[in-house]
Amino acid sequence: MAKEKSIKEIEDLPGIGPATAEKLKAAGYTDLDKVAVASPYELSEAIGISADSAKKAIEAAKQATTLEFETGESVLEKREAIGKISTGSKGFDELLGGGVETNAITEAYGRFASGKTQVGFQLAVNVQLDHGKGGLDGGTLFIDTEGTFRPERIEAIAKSAGLDPKKVLENIFVVRATTTDQQVIAIERADKLIKEKNIKLIIVDSISSLFRAEFLGRGGLAERQQKLNGHIHKLQRLADTHAVAVYITNQVIDNPGILFGDPTTPVGGNIIAHAATTRLYMRKSKEDKRIVRLVDSPNMPEGEAVIKITPEGIKD
Ligand code: GTP
Ligand code: MG
Repeated sequence: MAKEKSIKEIEDLPGIGPATAEKLKAAGYTDLDKVAVASPYELSEAIGISADSAKKAIEAAKQATTLEFETGESVLEKREAIGKISTGSKGFDELLGGGVETNAITEAYGRFASGKTQVGFQLAVNVQLDHGKGGLDGGTLFIDTEGTFRPERIEAIAKSAGLDPKKVLENIFVVRATTTDQQVIAIERADKLIKEKNIKLIIVDSISSLFRAEFLGRGGLAERQQKLNGHIHKLQRLADTHAVAVYITNQVIDNPGILFGDPTTPVGGNIIAHAATTRLYMRKSKEDKRIVRLVDSPNMPEGEAVIKITPEGIKD
């Protein structure tokens, strides 16, 4: 692959002096690959250089990184190492090919009361189950942007899953974010917690509500999308580097412009749609029933599952 002789370390990047290189390392950009996959916005935010300088550094890092080819077989081996968290419903798990995957972002979008948060609670409990029993024996980082985290509900679901509710709550780390800055920072600083507390699931409920509220009518759509983009990329990087599952919820907005089909569109436009590996559309059905539609997946066919929200959690 293209390789520039002169650039071997981040110190060699154009416009990056020793002091900036230190800042890069401190921010987690420890090698050229990490710089190469960063977005200019993210990089400039992290180390306080202009977006333009960041762009140049990223371009040079891309040129300098070596790419190795691997066989399909070795990719398959890695895929088999990917963890899956059970949703509590057999039908829902089958729709996902076994459950919510690590190393990826799963987005659930839908109207209010469609069950997005309840699925999050169930996953926060189930991730604590043992390997092979629907869990990954790990904890949850829960970013609550809507003030809807309910420990009582977690307790009820945990009991029904045969777990000690107190222990389950001890392994759920909740951040109540009330501004997009807090939401972004919670994820920027998550590396340490993920390692120390064996976090295997990150939930952002919801990814979009604060962005939507804060930037409403400010004409700052470009700014909002850029900030949201950086946030989502950081989530993707956490998913990759720590092999955690990321579950994000998203609201839908009514789109009266659509004459045929479902007149609702998820918030956040293409940014969230592109970043999410798997996308689920949830909607209300009769009583406690909810319909989950797999809208986008790299390896599973589109389809639907019907789940129930019961006092004990998500069931078939
Ligand atoms: P928004 O966050 O408002 O967009 O909605 P959401 O999609 O997150 O909905 P949520 O997951 O909060 O689902 C709400 C629904 O779950 C309610 O309509 C209730 O029917 C159900 N629900 C919530 N709590 C309980 C509970 O303790 N027991 C039972 N049986 N159902 C519950
Ligand atoms: Mg909710």
